[in-house]
Amino acid sequence: MKVNVIVSPAVVEELYFSGKTTVVIDVLRATSTIVYALMNGAKEIIPVGSVEFAMKASSTMFGGQTLLAGERNTKMIDGFNMGNSPAEFTQEKISGKGIVLFTTNGTRAIVKSKYSANVIIASFLNINAVAEYLVQLNENVEIVCSGRNNQLGMDDTVCAGKLIQLLAEKTENLELNDSSLAAVVLAKSQGKNLKKMMQGSDHGKILIENGFQDDIAFCAKTNITDIVPVFVNGVIKPLKKDEVPQTEENVEQN
Ligand code: MLT
Repeated sequence: MKVNVIVSPAVVEELYFSGKTTVVIDVLRATSTIVYALMNGAKEIIPVGSVEFAMKASSTMFGGQTLLAGERNTKMIDGFNMGNSPAEFTQEKISGKGIVLFTTNGTRAIVKSKYSANVIIASFLNINAVAEYLVQLNENVEIVCSGRNNQLGMDDTVCAGKLIQLLAEKTENLELNDSSLAAVVLAKSQGKNLKKMMQGSDHGKILIENGFQDDIAFCAKTNITDIVPVFVNGVIKPLKKDEVPQTEENVEQN
C-alpha cells in the first residue's frame, strides 16, 4: 500500500484524484464536525464548495428540510442555521436530518476529491476505524490535509502522520514517500499532546481568539467512535459495517 500525503489540496487538480482512494482530514474543524454529526444521528451531510451553492442546495433538497451549516473565518454565516462547531451538532438538533455544510477549507477539499473511487473522512475522533478500513481496502492511499489558506496546517498533517503510524501497526505492506515520511516525523515530534499542539497551531490560535477553545479540546479526543464516513455521489454517510468494496486484491486477501 503506497501512501502519499498532500499538505494542501491547492497543490493538485480535481482530476488528480480520478479512481484513487482518498482520505480527507480537516481536524479543526470540518472533518471532526462531520464525524460527530454522524455519531449524533445526522441522516447525511452534503459538503459544498461555496456559500451560494449551500444556499441553493439547502432550499431545494428534501423540500427545504435540510439544515444549513458552516463558517467563514470560523464564525457562522448570516442566514445559516448553524456554524461549524462540533458542539452545536447535538442529537436534539440534527438527528435524522440532512445537513448542507460549507467550510472554508474542509468541505472544499472533500468536494475537490470527488473523482476518487473512495473518499473517506478522517479526524482524531475516528482515526483507528479509518486505519482499519484502509487496511481492509488494501488500496494505495492519498491523504489530503485540508490545511489553511492553501498552506500546511499542523493539526491535519499530524493527524495524517498518526494515521500512517496506525497503518504501520496494522500492515507490513506499507510504502512511504517523502511526504508521508515527513508527516510521520511531524506526528512523532508534535503529536504527543494533541490539545497543546492544536492550541499552538495557526488555526488553533484563531479559534481561541474567536472563543472556540473548547472545540480544540473536543477535536483532540481520539477514537471516540468507529464511524467511517464516506463521500459517495455528493453525500457523506457512515460506511455500513459489511460494506468493504470487493477489489481484486482484497478478495484474494479475505
Ligand atoms: C475549515 O474548513 O476551514 C475549518 O473547518 C474552519 C473552522 O474551524 O471552522
